[in-house]
Amino acid sequence: RKKVTINTIRKLYNDNEPITVLTAHDYPSASFVDKAGIDICLVGDSLAMVALGHESTSPVTMEEMLHHCRAVARGAKSPFMVADMPFGSYEGSISEAVNNAIRFIKDGKMEAVKLEGGTEMVETIRAITRIGIPVLGHVGLTPQRQSSLGGYRVQGKTLEKAKKLIEDAKAIQEAGCFGMVLETIPEPVATHITKLLKIPTIGIGAGPGTSGQVLVQLDMLGIFDRFAPRFAKTYANANSVITDAIRTYHKEVKERKFPAKEHCYPMEDGELERFLN
Ligand code: KIV
Ligand code: NA
Repeated sequence: RKKVTINTIRKLYNDNEPITVLTAHDYPSASFVDKAGIDICLVGDSLAMVALGHESTSPVTMEEMLHHCRAVARGAKSPFMVADMPFGSYEGSISEAVNNAIRFIKDGKMEAVKLEGGTEMVETIRAITRIGIPVLGHVGLTPQRQSSLGGYRVQGKTLEKAKKLIEDAKAIQEAGCFGMVLETIPEPVATHITKLLKIPTIGIGAGPGTSGQVLVQLDMLGIFDRFAPRFAKTYANANSVITDAIRTYHKEVKERKFPAKEHCYPMEDGELERFLN
């Protein structure tokens, strides 16, 4: 498949073709994204929860993100590669944000970064896009700010909150984002924002009116089972497939059924036996 670039993304958007985004956090999950022909591979900081077992996304560090990014970059060659800037890597100062965005390109082998926030992030987004690093915005439910949001709740449900969300989306478009994630917001708000903007919206829990969709791979495969938000459609029950496989292995070893003859390496006919006798 031809390499997906930011121009491909623009073309998909202009052609009104839905843009597919899926997360990956290591080499095998990245190769699945690649093989399936997904447009954008996202190294989301959701990996903090689904791959590292943290309670939220906040603990994951730049170094950890970069380590995962490099593995993902080795596994996915065709998709456009985007990484989440982790909590604390871009809020403190603009120069820190710019330097960390550069690290994702140089050390992480990524092509773009994603960061959470609306109007308050405008200067940061401008500074990063100005040096040639594409930025994917992220508004609505911003998991890095879950403490101040009071948990993982639907955002923009009242008219007043929806207006603020629309303002945020317009502001980060103006700041230079090439697209933005709309997470867990009412469908009519997401559809309205999508119509208003000139850049693609990528929805998660935002309904079918967005320019594209994103899911967390371990959610949609039914592997991560700690909780399941309404939007997390499971396309496979890989959790039970994997658990069954490992249980069977455990059982077969205990019962001396594995390894069988076909898993063993034979020697030249009778050679060792003759030597020993
Ligand atoms: O971290 C992540 O995986 C994300 C997507 C769900 C948009 O931010
Ligand atoms: Na994220």
